[in-house]
Amino acid sequence: MAYETIIVEVDDEVATITLNRPDALNALNSQLLGELSQALAEVDASDKVRCIIVTGSAKAFAAGADIKEMSEKSFVEMFLGDYFGTASDAIGRVRKPVIAAVSGYALGGGCELAMMCDFIIASDTAKFGQPEINLGVIAGIGGTQRLTRYVGKSKSMDMHLTGRFMDAEEAERAGLVSRVVPAKQLMDEAHQAAAKIAEKSVLATMAAKQAVNRAYETTLTEGLMAERSLFQSLFATEDQKEGMAAFLEKRTAQFRDR
Ligand code: HXC
Repeated sequence: MAYETIIVEVDDEVATITLNRPDALNALNSQLLGELSQALAEVDASDKVRCIIVTGSAKAFAAGADIKEMSEKSFVEMFLGDYFGTASDAIGRVRKPVIAAVSGYALGGGCELAMMCDFIIASDTAKFGQPEINLGVIAGIGGTQRLTRYVGKSKSMDMHLTGRFMDAEEAERAGLVSRVVPAKQLMDEAHQAAAKIAEKSVLATMAAKQAVNRAYETTLTEGLMAERSLFQSLFATEDQKEGMAAFLEKRTAQFRDR
C-alpha cells in the first residue's frame, strides 16, 4: 500500500513508521491518522513483524492535530465524524509492542499519539505538551486521561491548564518517557530496544503488553487475575518449554511463536 503522509519500512522483524508531513511539523490530519491506523493494522497482522516503532522528524514527532483542518469544523461534523476517535481506537487496538521514538515537538495530539504507544524513548531535544488550552479547546484523543495516568494529577493539570511544554529531562523524571538519549542516537536506541523485543516469543510480548495495559483499565484484584491467567496460559506454549530449557541448558532460546 502506498502512503502519502507516512513512510513504512520493515527491516529484520521491526516495522518503522515515520510520520511525514515536514511542512506542517507532522501535524495529524485525517489522512495521516487514517494511513497510520491502516499501516499499524497491516504490520500488526504481519507474521514477520514482531515490534513496531512510530517516529517523526528531528524537529517534530508531531506538533498536534492539524489546526488548519480543524479550525472551521462544526460540532456536528466533529461529533458525526467522531473526529480522530475512530483512528485513535484503532491505534489502541494494536497488539504487538509499539515504541514511540520522539524527537522535538510532541504536542497536543502528537503527545497523545506518543502516549498511545507502549513506551516512549525520547531524544534530549524532545518537548511534550498539551497546549490545546491556548486554542480554546482541550485534549481530545486521550491527553487528559493518559497524561494523568503517566505523570499524576498535579503535573497533568499543570500541563493541560497552562499549556506549557515539558522537556525530555522533566518527562523522564515524571515517568512519561522510559529513556532519554542524545538526539543523534535516538533511532539506534529505538531499533536496539525493538530488536531486543523482537528476540522474544511474540506470544509472551503480546501477553506482557496485554497484562500491563490491564493496570490502566481495572482494579488491582482484577488486574492480578488477568495477569495470572495470561502467565498460566503461556505454559501451554512451546516457547515456554523452549525458553526454560534454553536457560537450563545454558544456550540461547529459539522461539518459534508456538
Ligand atoms: C497545523 C501546524 C501545526 C499544527 C505547526 N504547524 N503546528 N499546522 N497544525 N498543529 C505548521 C505551521 O503553521 C507552519 O506552517 C509550520 O508548521 C512550521 O511551524 P512554525 O510555527 O513556523 O514553527 P516554529 O516557530 O518552530 O514553532 C513550532 C511550534 C508551533 C511551537 C510547534 O508550530 C506550534 O505552537 N504549533 C501548534 C502546536 C499546538 O497548538 N498543538 C495542538 C493542536 S490541537 P507554515 O505554512 O506557516 O510554514 C490538538 C488537538 C488534539 O492537537 C485532539 C484531536 C482530536
